[in-house]
Amino acid sequence: MLNTLLDISEESTGEFDKTQIERLFLDLFIAGNDTTSAALEWTMAELIHNPERDGLFLELYTMSLPHLDHNSSFYSIARSKVTSTKLPPGPKPFPIIGNLLELVGHKPQKSMAKLANTHGPLMTLKLGQKTTIVISSADLAKEVLQQHDQFFCNHTIPESVVAGNEHEFSLPWLPVSAQWRNLRRICKSHLFANQILDANQNLRRKKVQELLADIHNSSLNGDAVDIGKAAFKTSLNLLSNTIFSVDLADPNSATGRELSKLVHSILEVGSRPNLADYFPVLKKVDFQGIWRQMTIYFGKMIDLFSSIISQWLLQSKTFGSIRNNDMLDTLFHISEEKSTGEIDKTQIERLFVDLFLAGNDTTSATLEWAMAELLYNPEVLTKAKAELKQIIGKGNAVVESDIDCSLYLQAIVKETFRDASIWENPNSFKPERFMGSEIDVKGRNFELIPFGAGRRMCPGLPLALRMLHLMLGSLIHTFDWKVEGGFKPKDIYFEEKFGLTFQKAEPLRAIPIMV
Ligand code: HEM
Repeated sequence: MLNTLLDISEESTGEFDKTQIERLFLDLFIAGNDTTSAALEWTMAELIHNPERDGLFLELYTMSLPHLDHNSSFYSIARSKVTSTKLPPGPKPFPIIGNLLELVGHKPQKSMAKLANTHGPLMTLKLGQKTTIVISSADLAKEVLQQHDQFFCNHTIPESVVAGNEHEFSLPWLPVSAQWRNLRRICKSHLFANQILDANQNLRRKKVQELLADIHNSSLNGDAVDIGKAAFKTSLNLLSNTIFSVDLADPNSATGRELSKLVHSILEVGSRPNLADYFPVLKKVDFQGIWRQMTIYFGKMIDLFSSIISQWLLQSKTFGSIRNNDMLDTLFHISEEKSTGEIDKTQIERLFVDLFLAGNDTTSATLEWAMAELLYNPEVLTKAKAELKQIIGKGNAVVESDIDCSLYLQAIVKETFRDASIWENPNSFKPERFMGSEIDVKGRNFELIPFGAGRRMCPGLPLALRMLHLMLGSLIHTFDWKVEGGFKPKDIYFEEKFGLTFQKAEPLRAIPIMV
């Protein structure tokens, strides 16, 4: 705590001086000591009288990815050892398998939404051997993520990331600890700070121009564009350029093809339900082969980053320091200075794994949903185009500094993220609801937390928002769009498929027309 408080006072996010820290410690010792020991004594008494309660967990995941359909979207499942003997209501579990059968199928998120309608916004599910509490209301999410964040901020580690020892290095899986704090601080101050992102925005601008050139070719031939695929490739390219100035999404680059395949494979295998997570006794058997496949994929990805970093080191040794303003550059300067937080080559490789896995399809899936909504709601698209035309001017390229003034574009992105179940008129896509509103996606308004909230909130948010607005703004400012095959906008299919992020079940294909 002392470290954290000193950090806060240095960062000046809230002011704290030495005297206040001393007073706070006094309060903590007086208030926290015998309350805890008494609670522990009561808890031990409960556990001894109710031995079956040992092994009860609360899990916290925030599954709030893009605006889905109109029934489901935001669920938090909270985590930590629980000591209370009173569990929230939930469906009656079967012996051994618990409630797993109720979630079997392609849309477990929908089954959960249905169950929550019956059992309430705080619900107990028994997933095999794991007892899990599902939270599905903004108020409860606020209580958990704001007031009790310290109890719920560590994630349960799935077997798929034990593969390759990913959990020992990786930001999402490390417990809140000195190592995790160091990585978060590096992300916040050195990778995703606004002045750093401003300095390397040219790396992204070039890649968006390439996307537009590709789409221009399609428009000349009257070909449809698979928006999700184009967004995935461009997000990968934006990330790889921001991270180490390399074009990994170039179809002619073998490294690029390999990385793209690895990211796809890890996300696909990692999203498969793994019985070993629900029945720990099956861990050793790995009969679905998930652990084995993930070990191979993580190993290949780390080898790939290791060779990119080694090349970079060799070049900087041979030709002197290279300043690309990319993340690799920044991280090596930090590691040399050692004053701002230490990070070595292994940690850099692992951090890159996190950034590629956490930052790619989250961004591209959001872009695809946003485009689907715009094609489905042509009046919103027209209004967005008019705003961009006024701010940027016909024929000019969208740049990141235009985003701040493009309030309607920002409202479209918020509306894409919106949790339909807790807003008025959930069935209409109305960015207007965010115009003139203070609500943002930065973890303060619990009715809109696509990036999570509390300590674990997404550190990549500043980059994600830039990439999203830049890509979306560019696509709609440069082209008109019509749905492929002569279909009407109202024919667009809005179902999602389950995965680590919710992708559109049917890819959105649309024909660009140069404006
Ligand atoms: C639209 C895009 C994105 C969305 C919706 C999103 C959403 C999220 C969410 C919900 C979490 C989990 C928060 C929690 O555990 O409570 C998260 C964590 C994380 N995100 Fe993002 N994210 C996006 C883009 C990015 C990008 C571009 C990066 C980096 C390049 C990134 C890096 C991370 C990392 C490293 C974590 C783990 C943080 C930790 O556990 O300490 N994300 N993100």
